[in-house]
Amino acid sequence: MNAAKMRFILFNLARNAYRTAQYALKQINPNYSPKSGSLFIGGGGTNNAGYCKGVWQTHIEAYKRFASPITPLRVAEFGPGNTIGSGLCALLDGACEYYAFDAYSYSDNDGALALLDKLIKLCDYDKNRSDRIVRVLNGEKDEAIKINYVAPWENTATLPKADFIFSQAVLEHVDNLKKFYEAQAQILDRGGLCSHQIDFRSHGETFEWNGHWAISLNRWRKIRYIRPYSINREPLSTHLKLLKQNGFEILNIQTVADKKLISIDRRRLAPEFANLSDEDFTTSSALIVARKA
Ligand SMILES: C[S@@+](CC[C@H](N)C(=O)[O-])C[C@H]1O[C@@H](n2cnc3c(N)ncnc32)[C@H](O)[C@@H]1O
Repeated sequence: MNAAKMRFILFNLARNAYRTAQYALKQINPNYSPKSGSLFIGGGGTNNAGYCKGVWQTHIEAYKRFASPITPLRVAEFGPGNTIGSGLCALLDGACEYYAFDAYSYSDNDGALALLDKLIKLCDYDKNRSDRIVRVLNGEKDEAIKINYVAPWENTATLPKADFIFSQAVLEHVDNLKKFYEAQAQILDRGGLCSHQIDFRSHGETFEWNGHWAISLNRWRKIRYIRPYSINREPLSTHLKLLKQNGFEILNIQTVADKKLISIDRRRLAPEFANLSDEDFTTSSALIVARKA
């Protein structure tokens, strides 16, 4: 056994002991939700202006390639995380409406203002436009710039309309993917585009990148139960199937099958994943672009 695997095993032993204690606490108090430690997956990397800019660039490039060279006016993002930084990039680039839908309320106005300040220092954005965004974040009305942050979004009766929906490192966490794809179909009109970057790896739950597909449902429930959100373990094909079921035409799939990652042997797959296609079994991440037909 190599040192990396030994380190992981020791870390995992400690984590399992901690989880067992948290699990017991949750049995006593069902409202218990740990806010720190390895049980809590946080709001991602959107405290970093460069990261937000990169995320927006990835998705807007997809939009411009498959829809129009002009920045869409109405943009929606699912799971922005710590800040709405990628959405601020959309507004700085010319979008007029930005809707953020998260499961948990990570982002606040102070964080958004701080991030906007970093973005302005990072890039040469139009000063008048950034000043107007600052005023909107401070609660002033602007006829042509609208920001709407909704968390949690799942019980929202009416969803707004948008021309473009994107997400970064989110859809692997969404528990109810059927509901998400139905909502996306509701938000986009015919011709509207979506771009989603999805990370299919085990997010540190197992030593091998795809070891989460070797964990039985019962064991997974214990890992999952205590967390506000975890990973849904759905492979690429689930997303493609749900997109088609909801009237989407798939325009592009950029998959990564990273050969450098340590993989399990197929024979170790848990019964519910035993029939994974070779593409699902080897795809560690994907950028999917689709159009509402
Ligand atoms: C790993 S973070 C990624 C955050 C950000 N997009 C980034 O790139 O750093 C995952 C995000 O997905 C959100 N999330 C989890 N379940 C969700 C759901 N059902 N609907 C919307 N967002 C969800 C989390 O609240 C969190 O903001």
